[in-house]
Amino acid sequence: MTKKTENRAVFNSKFAAIATTVGSAVGLGNIWRFPYEAGTHGGGAFLICYFAFVLLLGVPVLCAEYSMGRATRSNIFGAYRQLAPGQKWQFSGYLGIIASLLILSFYSVVAGWTVEYCISSATGSLDFSNPEGEHSQFMALTTGWRPVMWTVIFLFCNTFILLGGVSKGIERASNILMPLLFLLLIAFCINSLTLPGRNEGLSFLFHPDFSQINSKVLLSALGQSFFSLSLGLGCMMTYASYFSADTRLGKTAITTALLDSGVAVLAGIIIFPAVFSFGLSPESGPTLVFEVLPFIFMQLPGGAIWSTLFFLLLFLASITSTVSMSEISITYFTEEKKMSRRKATLVSSAIAMAGGLLCAFSFGPLKELTICGMTFFNLFDYVSSNIALPIGGMICSVFVGWVMDKRLLQAQFTNEGRQRFPFFRLLVFFLKWICPTAIFLLFLDSIGILSLLL
Ligand code: PFF
Repeated sequence: MTKKTENRAVFNSKFAAIATTVGSAVGLGNIWRFPYEAGTHGGGAFLICYFAFVLLLGVPVLCAEYSMGRATRSNIFGAYRQLAPGQKWQFSGYLGIIASLLILSFYSVVAGWTVEYCISSATGSLDFSNPEGEHSQFMALTTGWRPVMWTVIFLFCNTFILLGGVSKGIERASNILMPLLFLLLIAFCINSLTLPGRNEGLSFLFHPDFSQINSKVLLSALGQSFFSLSLGLGCMMTYASYFSADTRLGKTAITTALLDSGVAVLAGIIIFPAVFSFGLSPESGPTLVFEVLPFIFMQLPGGAIWSTLFFLLLFLASITSTVSMSEISITYFTEEKKMSRRKATLVSSAIAMAGGLLCAFSFGPLKELTICGMTFFNLFDYVSSNIALPIGGMICSVFVGWVMDKRLLQAQFTNEGRQRFPFFRLLVFFLKWICPTAIFLLFLDSIGILSLLL
């Protein structure tokens, strides 16, 4: 059943497999989204749920996506179709494509803010001397036409990379620059641990108040764990279709999950001590990180240089993630709709551009336009992360657990019997029972049905 397509690239080293999947996983989700989600959902209570979901649900679903991708060497539609011919599973691919385009839309706006901050830091116009003005400075930088312009420029960069075949260059650059981002995060962590609000910040993040755990916290933590691991929309499946036959799927999944959540925790250690030191509220929402970070840079010697470097690296981390999410719709258009790669890239980018503009205007002229109380920006984020990704992950888990041929699955984890994989039965048990049931119950809980039944 395994199809080897001649014209598909294969990553030639195990390091490349880890580097690219970590490149997709690590991005704004860890450094921007995790702190604000943790901040608005009780800190430690959120962290503990997030960790539990990464390990108990994220890692098994990641393994499932990897095995489908490598076994079929195909996009999400082709993967379902090859593994269950004549059945209708491939339709869940549409969910993945829609989710990826929604994410690309709001993600590009935030990536645009990183560009704005990077340039303002480099040109000295980010005002480090006036803490009181920080909030208004954020407003100044993120409302009006400039953020719209940066969103568009960011999407152009993304399109250029996808079109220009320079993704190899980006890959190589990110292999060096991502470890640099990691080192920079560690340095900022050490700095945050010297701040006066250290104890309060750390206790907010690491001392869970279990009474805060409710259905909203659970659903948000689930959404965050899937968003951060790029799960549930076929992104990791598509990347695994490029893995070599020697890549060890189980090990790669665990490494990706640990590195990814490690970066999120580092971001939390940087942000929360600063939040309490500078008298800010952890519940500021999506603007949190952009309001807090300048305070941190401000009190460092050479703050503008640190700030420029940091936002530059964050921009890079964002682009390795947006390239990966764009691949989902591009491989669909090229492999399923037989478009040229160029046309497929342009069509995907045009859709993302329309969505990106709606999200960028959510901070300006479309601020008052809300659906279910959410602006387009918040709506796209909520629908994709908290609904589409968990549902996509649940479908993938049911499929691999119940439908996919188990010998083929085992061959993927043992590399055709060349390696041992002692957790195979446990993995299948999780995919069959634990992941789908847990995700389903979390949904029932979040729409209030569970409390009616119990
Ligand atoms: N995991 C990325 C992040 O944390 O920034 C976001 C992401 C990338 C989500 C790719 C989904 C995806 F397909």
